[in-house]
Amino acid sequence: MTIKFSLSDQAPESAPVPCIVVGVFEERVLTAAAARVDDKSGGAIKRLLESGDVAGKSGSTQLLFGLAGVAAPRVVVVGLGEQKKFDGARFARACNEAARVLKGLPIDSAVSYLTEVDVPGRDAAWAVRTAAIATDAQAYKYTATFKPREKSKTPEFAALAFAAPAAAAPALLTANGVAAGVLFARELGNLPPNICTPAHIAAQAQKLAQEHPGVSCEVLEEEDMARLGMGALLGVAQGSVNAPKLIVLQWRGGAENDRPYALVGKGVTFDTGGISIKPSAGMEEMKFDMCGAASVLGAFLSAVQLKLKLNLVCVVPAAENMPGGKAQRPSDVVTTMSGQTVEVLNTDAEGRLILCDALTYVQKFKPQVIVDTATLTGACVVALGKHASGLMTKDDDLANQLLAAGEATLDRAWRLPLWDDYQSQLDTGYADIANIGGKYAGAITAGCFLSRFTEGFRWAHLDIAGTAWEDGRKGSATGRPVPLLVQWLMDRQG
Ligand code: BES
Ligand code: MN
Ligand code: ZN
Repeated sequence: MTIKFSLSDQAPESAPVPCIVVGVFEERVLTAAAARVDDKSGGAIKRLLESGDVAGKSGSTQLLFGLAGVAAPRVVVVGLGEQKKFDGARFARACNEAARVLKGLPIDSAVSYLTEVDVPGRDAAWAVRTAAIATDAQAYKYTATFKPREKSKTPEFAALAFAAPAAAAPALLTANGVAAGVLFARELGNLPPNICTPAHIAAQAQKLAQEHPGVSCEVLEEEDMARLGMGALLGVAQGSVNAPKLIVLQWRGGAENDRPYALVGKGVTFDTGGISIKPSAGMEEMKFDMCGAASVLGAFLSAVQLKLKLNLVCVVPAAENMPGGKAQRPSDVVTTMSGQTVEVLNTDAEGRLILCDALTYVQKFKPQVIVDTATLTGACVVALGKHASGLMTKDDDLANQLLAAGEATLDRAWRLPLWDDYQSQLDTGYADIANIGGKYAGAITAGCFLSRFTEGFRWAHLDIAGTAWEDGRKGSATGRPVPLLVQWLMDRQG
C-alpha cells in the first residue's frame, strides 16, 4: 500500500479533513499549529498539558475528539520531546508515531502540521521528504502470503497532506520515488524463500524493465556463468535445485559517454550455510539473505522513477546456499572469473563467493564507482548492532559521500577500516585466497576478500547484515539501505 501525499496551506482549525496532526514539546511548549488549535478551542490542549494527560514525551501520542472551534473531528497530538534536544531523528520518530495512530483510525485522509516544526540543521523540503517516507514505511503491511481478505468497508488511511510551502513540492516527488524503492525492497525481502528464488528475483527485474521505458534487463544463466568462468558463484549454487541467475539492469539517464555508477547486491535467496550448516535456531532469518539484492534493485527502481540524470548498472548474483550431494565442500578450491583461486574453507561464507564474480563481471561496464550491499557477516551485527550499516572502502571521498547520504536520510552507515594489515588473514596454503579470515574482524576480512576483486576501481562495500531487517516473528525487511543509495545517486547527478 502506498499513501498519496500532497501539500496543504490550510490553517489547522479549518482543514476540512477527518483528522489533523500537531506536535507539542515537553515542558508544555506548543508548536505553532498546536497553539493555534489550542487558541481556537478555548485552551483544550493547555488544559491537557496541565492535567498531565498530554506530556509531550518524544514518541507519545494522544488522540483528541471533537474540539470546539476546530473543523477536523480528530486531533492527534504528537510528543516531540525536549525542545533543545529536538533533531532529525526525533522528527522522523514523531512522523512514524503519528502514522501509526492514523493507520488505526477509520479515516482515509489527514493533514499533518509536523512539517511546519523547525528541525535544526534541516530545511522544509527535508522535513516533507522525511515525513512522507516515514509515513509510507509505517503504513506498509505485508499481505503477499495470506489468504486474500475481503476489502473492509471502513475507510482506510490512504492520503496525507503536509502543511508546507508550495516550494516543497519537489520533495514529495523525491519521497514518492524513494518510497517506491523501499517498498520494492521490503516486499521482495519479506517473501518466503520457496517463492523468492533466484528465478523469481530475475522475473521481478525483467518486469521492472518491461514497465519502465529506458531500462534494459539481461539475465545470465548457468551456462553463461560457466562460459565466463564464474566458478565461485557456481560453486555456491551447485548444492541447490534452484538454478542461479546473474541479473543485469541498465538505466541510461546520463550522457552517452558517461561511465555508469554500478550497484551490486548479494542475492542469496536462502542461506542454510551449506555443508558448514547453520544451527537451526534462527535459520529462518536467512530468507533475508537476499536483501542486498533487494536493496540495489529497489534503489535502481527509485533512480528510474526519479529519472536520475546518470547512467546506472545494477548487477545481482542470485543463488541458494544448500547442503546436499552436489554441494561444495569445505576445502574445495574454485577458480573465480578474475582468475584468482579461492579455497572454500567454510561454505557459510558464501556471500563473498557470489559477489566476487559479480564484482568482476560488472567491470565490463567500466563503471566510475562500484557500491555493493550485502547481508555479509554476523560480525558486522556484533560490531555495529542494528542501527548502522558497515561501510568499507579505501576511498575517503567515496566514504564521505556515502556517510553523508546516510546522515541526510537517517539511513546511517559507519566506516570500518580496510587496511592492508588485515589482508594476510586470508592467506592459505592451497589457493590464492581463503574465503574466511579467522575469528577476528570478520566484517573487515569479508571486505578485504571483496577488495581483491575490485582492484583499480573506486569501490565501497556496505555490510547490511544488521540493518536490512528487524528480527522477531513479525520482523520485516526494512528496505535499508535504499534511502542512502538513492540519496547518494541523487547527489551524483550531472
Ligand atoms: N548471511 C550470513 C551473514 C549473516 C549472519 C547475516 C547472521 C545476518 C545475520 C553470511 O553468509 C554468513 O553466514 N557469514 C558467516 C561468515 C563466517 C562463516 C566467516 C558469519 O557471519 O558467521
Ligand atoms: Mn552464510
Ligand atoms: Zn549469507
